[in-house]
Amino acid sequence: MKHKNQIQEAFLEKNRIADLGGGADKINKQHESGKNTARERIDILLDKGTFVEVDKFVVHQCNNFGMEKTKIAGDGIVAGHGRVDGRLIFVYAYDFTVFGGSLSRTGANKIVKLQRMAIKMGAPIIALNDSGGARIQEGVASLAGYGDIFFQNTISSGVIPQISVILGPCAGGACYSPALTDFIFMVKEKSHMFVTGPDVVKTVTHEDVTKEELGGAHTHCSVSGVSHFMGDSEEDTLMMVRELLSFLPSNNMEDAPRAKSLDDVSREDTRLNSIVPLDPNKPYDIKELIEAVVDDQYFFEVMGLFAQNIVIGFAHLGGKTVGIVANQPNYLAGVLDIDASDKAARFIRFCDCFNIPLITFEDVPGFLPGTTQEHHGIIRHGAKIVYAFVEATVPKITVITRKAYGGAYIVMSSKHTGSDACFAYPSAEIAVMGAAGAVNILYRNADEETKAKALAEYEEKFSNPYRAAELGYVDEIILPQQTRAKIIQALNMTHTKNRSNPAKKHGNIPL
Ligand code: HXC
Repeated sequence: MKHKNQIQEAFLEKNRIADLGGGADKINKQHESGKNTARERIDILLDKGTFVEVDKFVVHQCNNFGMEKTKIAGDGIVAGHGRVDGRLIFVYAYDFTVFGGSLSRTGANKIVKLQRMAIKMGAPIIALNDSGGARIQEGVASLAGYGDIFFQNTISSGVIPQISVILGPCAGGACYSPALTDFIFMVKEKSHMFVTGPDVVKTVTHEDVTKEELGGAHTHCSVSGVSHFMGDSEEDTLMMVRELLSFLPSNNMEDAPRAKSLDDVSREDTRLNSIVPLDPNKPYDIKELIEAVVDDQYFFEVMGLFAQNIVIGFAHLGGKTVGIVANQPNYLAGVLDIDASDKAARFIRFCDCFNIPLITFEDVPGFLPGTTQEHHGIIRHGAKIVYAFVEATVPKITVITRKAYGGAYIVMSSKHTGSDACFAYPSAEIAVMGAAGAVNILYRNADEETKAKALAEYEEKFSNPYRAAELGYVDEIILPQQTRAKIIQALNMTHTKNRSNPAKKHGNIPL
C-alpha cells in the first residue's frame, strides 16, 4: 500500500509537470521571443496569489498522427478565476508552449465551461490569445470547438463584459472570438490578427504585405478599428486591462463600482470659459475640455488612434462611471464619417448594456460629404448613431459647446432623440448649417451687399442657442465653467431613471 506522503508527492509532481506546460525548452523559446508564458501572464493580470486554476489535468482525446503519445496536462489552455482589485474575474490563456497554443476539442470544452461559469456567476471573462489556431491534427473537431466558443461569446454579449488580449498570433476564423467580445487589446509589434496571413494574401491578391502591416497592433488600432487599445509591452497591456475593468460593472444587473475621489462635485473651472474659440472655424482639443470637467481630470480614452474625429472613453463624475462621446474639432473639424459613426455607436451600445450613463459633448459641422462616404454607405453607418442613442435607456446628458448643425445636431444625443438633460454654452450655434453656407444657398445670385446683410441676419437669428432654448430643445444655457457641476446635478437627477423600450426579440440596427 502506498504511504500518504507518496500519494501527495505524486500529486505534487503531476502538478509541477502540468505547470511547465510544453516543457522547459518551449518555455525558454517563448521567453526568447519576448513573450511571457500563459501562467506568467495570468499572474501579471490578477491580484497577487488569487488565481484558482480549473481543469489543470485535462488532456486531449486525439489519436491521429501519433498524438496519443503526446498528452500534456491542461492541453494548451490555462483557465480559471481570480480577482482584479478584489473583484471576481474569469480568465483563460492559450499556452503557446503546447502545440503552439493550438485549440483542441478538449481545449474548447475547457473554454466553454469557463464561459458558462462566468455568465452564471455574473463576472467578466478575459481571454489571453497566443495561438496557432485550430489544432491541425484534430480537424473538424477543433473547428466545432471554435463554433461553441463563438456561441457562448454571443450569448454572453451584453450580460458580462468580455475582453480579449492578443499577445501573439491570432489567425483565421480564430479572430472571430475576439471580434465578438467587447474590447480587444493588442501589443505593439508582438501581436497579429488576420483572417489570412501574408502568404495567402500574396497568392490570392498578389499584394506584398508584412505581418505587421496586414494585422499588427498599429494597423488594427488606427486603420481597421478592430482593436481598441495598444500597449507597449505585455505588462503595460495587461495593466490597461485592469484599468478598464475598474470602470465596468461585473454584469448587466449591476452598476459600476463607485470611485473614490476628493474632487469637489461643484468645482467650477474658469479655464473652460476660454477653451472653445468663438470663431466656429477654429479648432480646439475637446479632450482638454473633458479633462477639465471629469473627476481628478482623468479620462480613459478608448480607440484613441481610430477615427479621431470622435472621442470616446470612460471617466468618473462624482465617483460614478460615465461613458463620454465627443466630437473632436481638432481632427477633420469633428465631422461625422463612417468610421466615427461605427466607433461611437458600438461604444454607446456597450455603455447601455452595462448601465453606464452617457455624456455627449457636441461640436459638429455635419456629416462628411463626398462620393467616398456616400458610396461606402454613410447613410447606413450614420444611422447607427441615432439608433444607438435612441435605443439607449441609460441616463443621457448632452452639452452643446459650439456647432450643432443639421442632421448631425439631431443624431448627437439631442433632446429629440432622447437626451434627458441638454445644456448649451452661450457660444452654441444650433442651426441647419453655418451662416456662410446658408446664405450661399438662399442668396446664390444676390449682390455682395445683400449677402452681407443676410449673413448678419442669419447669425443674429440662428448662430446662438436661444432659438433652440425658446422652443425647449435645450433645457438650460450654462456658462462653460459650470459644466462639471451641471452634469453631476443631472446625473443625480437621472439616477432613478426607469425606462425600457417596448418588448421585442431584438431591434434591427442598420449594421
Ligand atoms: C497544431 C501547431 C499549430 C496548429 C503551430 N503548431 N500551429 N500544431 N496545430 N494549428 C505547432 C508547431 O508545429 C510547432 O510544434 C509549435 O506549434 C510552434 O510553432 P512554430 O511554427 O515553431 O512557431 P512560430 O515560428 O512562432 O510560428 C507560429 C505560427 C505558425 C505563426 C502560429 O506555427 C503557424 O503558422 N501555424 C499554423 C497556423 C494555421 O494555419 N492554423 C490554422 C488556421 S485556420 P513543434 O512541435 O515543432 O514545437 C484556423 C481555423 C479556425 O485556425 C476556424 C474557426 C472557425
